[in-house]
Amino acid sequence: MKKLAVFASGNGSNYEAIAAACAGGVLDAEVAVLVCDHTDAYAIQRAAKFGTPVFAFCPKDYASKAEYEAEIVSLLDSKGIDLVCLAGYMRIIGDVLLKAYSGKIINIHPSLLPAFRGAHAVEQAVEYGVKVYGITIHWVDQTLDGGKIIAQEAFHYDGNDPEEVHRIGQVIEHKLYIETINKILCER
Ligand code: GRF
Repeated sequence: MKKLAVFASGNGSNYEAIAAACAGGVLDAEVAVLVCDHTDAYAIQRAAKFGTPVFAFCPKDYASKAEYEAEIVSLLDSKGIDLVCLAGYMRIIGDVLLKAYSGKIINIHPSLLPAFRGAHAVEQAVEYGVKVYGITIHWVDQTLDGGKIIAQEAFHYDGNDPEEVHRIGQVIEHKLYIETINKILCER
């Protein structure tokens, strides 16, 4: 069975969708670890429900990104991780992790990339008056939300409430992430 690592910083609804798909046999995979850069992330409580092992760390406890990423790489190696799924992980992946897991890290982003990169994509899109929103899943490289696109799904919205866009987008995210992970794992 393929092994996934999911990285999250907060809420973790995408983690839960992936873990539930694994538990329900929709994905022929296992979430072998949840990596969190906040020790109080709600995602950690979700992980308890599924019995997913958690590595929660505080970046400030390390001298550098390279140092904590080296620890993460050892952990992923020890678990034989096939694919790393970033799901609301609010940190740029550094050289150490990128080199070790080159071509094995994907991210989900709440806009139709390359439009609206970064942490406030939905708010910026609403401010712009966008009418077609969407979700993107892409390979992770050293750029911010800039790696090659794997999957996208668009939706129309003509209001001005970022919360509503988030709500509509998350329903799509949970489905699209699972479909995309499934495709990637089947091709390996
Ligand atoms: C999602 O909207 C995702 O697109 C973005 O961060 C959010 C994470 O949501 N990268 P959750 O923590 O999985 O609920």
